[in-house]
Amino acid sequence: MDQHARKVITLIGFTGCWILCWAACLTGCRGPDTFKPTDRSLSWADHDDLALWQTGWTSFGPDLVSGGIPPGDEAFDLLAAQGFKLVVSVDGARPNLRAAQEAGLSYVHLPMGYHGVDESVALGLLRLMRTAHAPVFIHCHHGRHRAPAAAAVAALSVGQLDRQQVLACMQRAGTSRAYAGLWRSVESYQVPEENVPLPELVSVAPGHPLPDAMVAMDHALERLEALCLERERKSLEEHSPQFQEWLVLLDEGFQETFRYPRKNLPPPLPAWDQMLKASHTQSKRVADLVNLSDWEAVEAGLRHLRSTCRACHHHYRDR
Ligand code: HEC
Repeated sequence: MDQHARKVITLIGFTGCWILCWAACLTGCRGPDTFKPTDRSLSWADHDDLALWQTGWTSFGPDLVSGGIPPGDEAFDLLAAQGFKLVVSVDGARPNLRAAQEAGLSYVHLPMGYHGVDESVALGLLRLMRTAHAPVFIHCHHGRHRAPAAAAVAALSVGQLDRQQVLACMQRAGTSRAYAGLWRSVESYQVPEENVPLPELVSVAPGHPLPDAMVAMDHALERLEALCLERERKSLEEHSPQFQEWLVLLDEGFQETFRYPRKNLPPPLPAWDQMLKASHTQSKRVADLVNLSDWEAVEAGLRHLRSTCRACHHHYRDR
């Protein structure tokens, strides 16, 4: 079967599920447990990601769905095929505007931390709910905490659901109680006065210090790992200037991360400082190892450094 035919059939399969999930919407909200992708869509390996992604969707009334970040171009096509016109990201990372535009979708970017839904974000959500004339898909990274909280506020702001219903939706989305600020924002949300000025909506919010610093660190670490692949051909001394150059950029990423406001981070806070320091210390250790001209130790040091990155992501980003 050619690419196009596969795509069309998958979309039909997904659309069927979507109709089922609308039915569930009538009762308030729908969680991962009430929506199961069809077996047919699961039988294609390259659609596993899409199917898995859809299991994380939660609807907050007829025209509002929360979920995780769309995993690639096909995910945006799928959203468009299901009638979505507007995608909202509350994640700090830069939205994938190219993929959205190619699928005919617009983006609104309202980055928020794990401490709660700030007033400016809540006002932005109100504006987009008032102006959107088609289903809205709202996502964060994994789709469990920030996006459901933002969707809850959005649904409340236009009276689409009541407080009890949106809290039940967050529960079904799997929003962790550890993010007490997110729950508080929804529990205490009040619809603003009719004439309150609403912020302009933008497709990319300016300045994302944390993700930008992370991307810079990742790039530097990748370059350092790539240098190790040249181990057979060159001595470590010859490579030393490049190592130092990338290590400096890596260090800048760490300095930027040290400056990041703690209030934007998910709890538990003490572990953040500890893990950031451990990762930074390991990067400095690698710099020392480069000076000792020991390839094997440098490689092992970089592997350990990666594991310190992953440890923090596991704790703070991937849950
Ligand atoms: C102290 C915790 C911590 C450490 C240490 C850490 N990260 Fe991160 N990283 C995060 C968090 C939190 C995010 C999610 C940021 C967001 O989306 O707002 C993230 C996101 C990222 C991203 C995705 C950025 C994007 O575009 O969304 C990359 C890539 C990344 N980190 C690479 C690294 C690398 C490489 C290291 C190690 C050298 C590292 N990180 C160390 C916490 C950490």
